[in-house]
Amino acid sequence: MRSLKLNLIPGDGIGVDVIKEGRRILGRIAELDGNIKFIFNELPWSCEYYLKHGYMMPADGLKILEDCDAILLGAVGFPSVPDHISLRELLLPIRCSFDQYVNLRPVKLLPGLKSTLKKEKIDFVVVRENSEGEYCGRGRFESEGTENEKAIQEAVFTKHGTERIIQYAFEYALKNKLKSLISATKSNALNYSMVFWDKIFNGQKAKYPGIQSKSVHVDALAGLFIMKPEEIEVVVASNLFGDILTDLGSAMLGSIGLSPSANINPERHYPSMFEPIHGSAPDIAGKGIANPIGTIWAIVMMLEHLELKDQALLLMNAMTAVLADGKIRTPDIGGKSSTSEVVDEIICKMMK
Ligand code: NAD
Ligand code: IPM
Ligand code: MN
Repeated sequence: MRSLKLNLIPGDGIGVDVIKEGRRILGRIAELDGNIKFIFNELPWSCEYYLKHGYMMPADGLKILEDCDAILLGAVGFPSVPDHISLRELLLPIRCSFDQYVNLRPVKLLPGLKSTLKKEKIDFVVVRENSEGEYCGRGRFESEGTENEKAIQEAVFTKHGTERIIQYAFEYALKNKLKSLISATKSNALNYSMVFWDKIFNGQKAKYPGIQSKSVHVDALAGLFIMKPEEIEVVVASNLFGDILTDLGSAMLGSIGLSPSANINPERHYPSMFEPIHGSAPDIAGKGIANPIGTIWAIVMMLEHLELKDQALLLMNAMTAVLADGKIRTPDIGGKSSTSEVVDEIICKMMK
């Protein structure tokens, strides 16, 4: 019997709905395979928790979190608490403290889905830097309350941090037999950070002559996503660029609710964290209509990370079959079903 401890953070809004459904999916996996047991440790850390306690997670929160095989997160943030507090006190510290420097975000049009573009094939992955860059959190306000008031937001790109993410992206391409890679830059305007990023990229590029790789300015790259997504295989991007490009990518597939995100510590010194790319969606919270696919796909990625290949495949196949069938889906992708009806159908399709 293999026991796997999962720390669950449902968080806020639709995060709560999708994690509830994620638990059912994992329950089904354990039911089908008598040799696996999931031990869930659900943590109440959220904006509601903040309003009660004055902090998003307790002082020993990271210590509590570290003790697990993987973390599954719904979404954090609600209008009741400023976003820069809720995210800076929970999600971002987890990613940074656990050195989850790779944020792997596949953008893939599955059968049965209709792209918002007139495209049949969209299938690429964004390798997003997840531990520094524009999200390093450094900066300051100056001359507050005067006419000279200003905000300074810094971005920190280290050689170590930039090199390892670009190398990871090239290795990902090699491992998955992909032929090309694009580095998102903006060195025409960002004359320190992105000039540095390009220098490191060029150094790595020379080591991988078998992969066609190039730098594309992120604005032009956003255009390429829309015009010729079929030409894209792997994108490596900084924290901010990768964030924006992946919401765009998911929207190209038909909904922000469709895409997963794996925050990985490749060295496995710390647990990795899996979540959908979307947020807490306050506009549809409590309605029971959140698309659960992003979370279920994130669970597939978590199972792969936990080396449960057969279980990952079983879940991916069931999810793909339900989407391909097209009858049971949530309103964001043109259906009338609820979150739990979609999950009921996926569970039905999960058989030994
Ligand atoms: P959002 O992703 O929550 O919502 C954007 C739009 O997409 C909304 O119209 C929403 O209804 C829709 N949407 C998102 N997920 C959906 C799903 N699963 N099914 C159907 N529709 C879906 O982005 P936002 O409005 O910018 O952010 C809301 C809150 O979530 C903020 O507090 C933000 O900081 C936070 N946020 C958290 C995370 C995270 O925890 N990883 C990610 C993004 C945003
Ligand atoms: C995401 C989110 C977060 C990010 C926010 C909520 C801090 O948008 O996971 O994509 O920018 O990383
Ligand atoms: Mn985002």
